[in-house]
Amino acid sequence: MTSDPINRRLGILISGRGSNLQALIDAIAGGRLDATIALVISNRADAAGLERARAAGIEAICLPHRAYATREDYDRALVKELQARDVGLVCLAGFMRLVGAPLIEAFPNRILNIHPSLLPAFPGLDAQRQAIEHGVKVSGVTVHLVTAELDGGPIVVQRAVPVIAGDTAESLSARILEEEHRAYPEAVQLILHGGWRVEGRRFVPARFPTSAST
Ligand code: GAR
Repeated sequence: MTSDPINRRLGILISGRGSNLQALIDAIAGGRLDATIALVISNRADAAGLERARAAGIEAICLPHRAYATREDYDRALVKELQARDVGLVCLAGFMRLVGAPLIEAFPNRILNIHPSLLPAFPGLDAQRQAIEHGVKVSGVTVHLVTAELDGGPIVVQRAVPVIAGDTAESLSARILEEEHRAYPEAVQLILHGGWRVEGRRFVPARFPTSAST
């Protein structure tokens, strides 16, 4: 699959602190990411990221998932808001909800997620705690395209972060977070640059032909 040109208007979905949202805002302001944040949506009214967005002059709204009878209804409401702002790429940035078919079908291969582990290790909740409890010596961050499989879509960017003796879930989370803030803007830029394709479950960037295509 060769990707079509991608509209650079981002929709960012959050549930809390919003430090990855801030990293994207800062990367755009610093000229490292050529994009516009069209809308920030939180499923929680108390998400600190909503204030970060508004402080940067970005429209930010709360869509509380509890107000919708089903996950599909909620996803359809998200799609409506995103499409109303002509969003081309959706970035999940600490959005702690499963995304379902209506959103994935409206934005096929146009949804990114950031996850604080080296997937496919430690999907789901509390990835950093899972890594500590498993005793791995290296963990990290993954940015991937979102498919129906939880944390299972094609991997766009991955960075390793060492686990240090004495680490807690909190200290490891802080070290991974620093890498997240570098990895997410890079991954978004890579996607917006275009020319990539998905082969099976592999994300193939623009400059790297594979045996199947040569
Ligand atoms: C980040 O560590 C992100 O990787 C993680 O939530 C945190 C959000 O922080 N996401 C997940 O665990 C998704 N499964 P932030 O609100 O400061 O960006």
